[in-house]
Formats: sequence, C-alpha cells, structure tokens
Amino acid sequence: MSSISNWLTSSIGKKFIMALTGLLLILFLVVHLINNLFLFIGPDLFNENVARLDAIKPLIRVVEVILAILFIYHAYNALTLWWNNKKANPDKYAVNGSKENSTLYSRWMVITGTIILIFLFVHLSTLWATYNFGMEGSEEFYDVIRNLFSNPLWALFYFVIMILLGFHMNHAFQSAFQTMGWNHKKYFPLVQKTGTAIAVIFTIGFGSIPIYFFLLSLGGKG
Ligand code: HEM
Repeated sequence: MSSISNWLTSSIGKKFIMALTGLLLILFLVVHLINNLFLFIGPDLFNENVARLDAIKPLIRVVEVILAILFIYHAYNALTLWWNNKKANPDKYAVNGSKENSTLYSRWMVITGTIILIFLFVHLSTLWATYNFGMEGSEEFYDVIRNLFSNPLWALFYFVIMILLGFHMNHAFQSAFQTMGWNHKKYFPLVQKTGTAIAVIFTIGFGSIPIYFFLLSLGGKG
C-alpha cells in the first residue's frame, strides 16, 4: 500500500496521473463539444437534448463528481510538479536548448492551465449554476446561452479562453503519450498531428459558439 502512495506522490507517478486524468478530460470535452454543437441546429433539438440529460440527473451528478475529482487532481499534480521542479532547478535557463524549451513549455502549460481552471470556476458559476438552479419562468436552456453571448464581453472572454485551450491541448496530448511511454519514433508524429487536430477542433468548435451568438444578436435575432 505504501509503495502505491509513494509512487502516486513521486514525480513519475504525478506525471502519469496527470497524463491519465488529462486524457479522460479530453474525452469529456469531446462529448461536451458534441452536445454543444446542437446549438447550431436550433433551439428545439438543443433543448430536447439537455432535457434528455436532465432526465438522468443522478447519473449526471456522479459524472460531475468524477469530473471535479479529475480536474482537481490534474491541476494539483501539475502545480506541485511545477513547484518541485522550480525548487530543484532555480536557474531555469539552462544552456541546453531542449531543456530550455521544455522549461518554457511547462511554464506555458502551467499558465494556460491555471487560466483554464479559473475559466472553469466562472463557467460553472454562470452556465452550470443557471442550468441547475437559476432557470427563470419560461426561459429555455438555449436562451441562457444566447443571452450570455449577446454580451460582447462574455463572447470575447469565451473566445479568447478557447484559443488558450487549443494551445494547452496541442502540447498536452503529445505530452501525455510521451509520459505513458507511447512515443515510438514511427508513430509519434501521428500522435503530434492528432494532438494538433484535437486542439484546432476544440478551438474552432467551442470558439465558434460565442461568436455565432454574438453575431446573431447584432442581426437583431438575439
Ligand atoms: C462555448 C463553449 C462552451 C459552452 C457553450 C458550454 C456550455 C455548458 C453548459 C450549458 C453547461 C451546463 C450543462 C448542464 O448542467 O446540463 C456546461 C457544463 C460544464 N462545462 Fe461547459 N461549455 C463550454 C466550454 C467548456 C469548456 C472549454 C470546458 C472545460 C475546459 C467546460 C467544462 C464544463 C464542465 C466541467 C461542466 C459541468 C459538467 C456538465 O454539466 O456537463 N465547458 N457547459
């Protein structure tokens, strides 16, 4: 038992857990994106889809608790790893080029990751909280999102965060595969390309939603 907890708190154990939780979070984002893309088909289908998920609320609650654990564990491991590295290597600008690159990458990952975490708190306290506790009268799920993004500040905030999410994903995906030891010379370029494709799909997919609703509101349909 103590060897498991030793491994979990070791640098390699933390990296492994980060990779695993990160890949599971990507899986969640794929499902989340697909659900959100129903917004483009129209209010009826989107509202029906949310109502369908509402009907299995106990199961959704379990998934949400698992997601919260994944997010917290992922962020905690990332921050403690970064802090331990920082303590161990106070002189970050090593002469070796690849070491310098990897330091810059990990700093960039910590910065984008922290911003995404802050975004998540804002996101849950607006959209998730409204969906679960703040629906007013005849307001529909679709309207909540349309009203939010008719405000240019909210639309811009979400759009910028989706670009940062793309940068985070682009490096995170290949990094997770590397940590797991799946970095065969022949297949790794494919892993890198897949990571970039996921990053672009997330940025365009999620990022187009605030832009679409903002433009719709300008056209007077909002
Ligand atoms: C334009 C982009 C996005 C839109 C329109 C959107 C919309 C929503 C909505 C409406 C909910 C409430 C669902 C419900 O309670 O039934 C929700 C929940 C949630 N969102 Fe997002 N989301 C977006 C991007 C993101 C991103 C980028 C992340 C993660 C980095 C994220 C993470 C979550 C989580 C963890 C939940 C709570 C779990 C759930 O209820 O599914 N969302 N989102």
